[in-house]
Amino acid sequence: MTDFLDIHTTSPADLRKIIDDAQAMKQARADRPKGTPDDDQVLAGHMVALIFEKPSTRTRVSFDVGVRQMGGQTMVLSGTDMQLGHGETIADTARVLSRYVDLIMIRTFEEATLLEMAEYATVPVINGLTNRTHPCQIMADVMTFEEFRGPIKGKKVVWSGDGNNVFASFAHAAKQFEFDLTFTGPEPLDPERSLDGLYTIERNPDKAVEGADLVVTDTWVSMHDPQSARERRHNQLRGYQVNADLMAKAKDDSLFMHCLPAHRDDEATSEIMDGPHSVIFDEAENRLHAQKAIMRWCLGV
Ligand code: CP
Ligand code: NVA
Repeated sequence: MTDFLDIHTTSPADLRKIIDDAQAMKQARADRPKGTPDDDQVLAGHMVALIFEKPSTRTRVSFDVGVRQMGGQTMVLSGTDMQLGHGETIADTARVLSRYVDLIMIRTFEEATLLEMAEYATVPVINGLTNRTHPCQIMADVMTFEEFRGPIKGKKVVWSGDGNNVFASFAHAAKQFEFDLTFTGPEPLDPERSLDGLYTIERNPDKAVEGADLVVTDTWVSMHDPQSARERRHNQLRGYQVNADLMAKAKDDSLFMHCLPAHRDDEATSEIMDGPHSVIFDEAENRLHAQKAIMRWCLGV
């Protein structure tokens, strides 16, 4: 039994196995109604806790559906409804939950909360997003890129916008999957220093996207950012919007990704989000398949 806490803390061989398993499981279900169980009920008899201290649509629904397809059961818990939100320690919560459930997925604010949960839980813990990283998302993104364009190794990926938690997991993935990652964004919103060396910086977005196989962006204000920073961030990031002019400077067959939820016509125009380069809804679907493979890997089933 293994935790899935981050991309850089999981070996390249294990990450590759998860992506390949996700593809195989997706193929095995092709054209079947979403509610039909998998032939292979590997999570039968398993109970999974899904804890959310922040809002979610994709993570919540895709984990829930994924567990059910594999024959398991879920309980979705909101941080504020739990004693965790009223002073019970993370360590005690982890030890108690481990007596009831077989797997814990948590979306939280501080990375320290995730790490403490993993330290004290005796069942596997999965990172469903923290202020610092979002590894499940990037597993789905790598899977999606490879579905459309083949191996991601050696490809050029360009991130335009805020150097946030989703970017951080892309940076970790660049090393593990051996692709080339460029960050273009304003200096005050640079990625955290721990990621130095995993990507290159090009402040000019037009230059950055030259030769790009994949252009990625994300919301300009993340869930953990104060709303008071909204106007300043918008002013800093406006020049990094992914629009038709910018995409025209990438490769002709470049893909566009966004983890969603998006603020249409801020970080990316609707023309791009709904246009021929965009694979945003394939990314969203692949959260389901990638996370099913992650859960199997965690539980060794
Ligand atoms: N991309 C993503 O994690 O979406 P949710 O916030 O809806 O879960
Ligand atoms: N960067 C965004 C991702 C949402 C899935 C956030 O943390 O709010």
